[in-house]
Amino acid sequence: MKIKEIIEVGKKIDLSDCWYGITFYNQEFLKAPSTEYYFLAGFVKSLNLKNILELGTHYGGSISSMYKATEGKGKLVTIDINNLSNKRINPNIIKIKGSSFDRKTIKKVFKEFKEVDLIYFDSIIRFKSVLENIRIYTKLNPKYLIINAIFYNDSMKKLWDKLTKEFKDRAHIVKIKDKPSGLGIIEWRK
Ligand SMILES: C[S@@+](CC[C@H](N)C(=O)[O-])C[C@H]1O[C@@H](n2cnc3c(N)ncnc32)[C@H](O)[C@@H]1O
Repeated sequence: MKIKEIIEVGKKIDLSDCWYGITFYNQEFLKAPSTEYYFLAGFVKSLNLKNILELGTHYGGSISSMYKATEGKGKLVTIDINNLSNKRINPNIIKIKGSSFDRKTIKKVFKEFKEVDLIYFDSIIRFKSVLENIRIYTKLNPKYLIINAIFYNDSMKKLWDKLTKEFKDRAHIVKIKDKPSGLGIIEWRK
């Protein structure tokens, strides 16, 4: 996968109103799109992905970036335990409020999709939680998984190590200069 080319595709999409908001690590308020958002948008556009599920909405920066890449032709669902994105995301994006582990939330998501193209995992960044989310939501037979922060802590490094062993050449690391915690892509559907 040519990451630079994917980012260039993303940079042609206007993401000026897609921003992260308050960061968890230093409480800084980010009000501009990150390279990660250009990557996500470029990935969705380059591969023509339409059915997208996100775990972890926050203010809606990443889901809005992917939504813009579908030019309004996709179905996008995002889950969060909070409502910070309510006034920010396009009303065509389906926001489900609840924990991704909660039965009611799972039921709501499975009502929206039979199958998905992409699942973006960006909620709790710990080995057991991400594995559990993968177990639950890959029942939607995704083409791709993107996992955020695969080098953020030892727990996530352990997860990426496990996935790499299992998926071998179908596991890709996305190296982005201003993102040391990394992103991982798994080509899930053969
Ligand atoms: C890193 S932020 C997501 C950032 C967002 N994807 C973006 O780039 O704009 C992680 C989010 O996961 C949410 N979260 C934490 N536990 C969750 C759970 N069990 N189910 C769903 N969302 C959860 C948090 O409330 C937080 O908003």
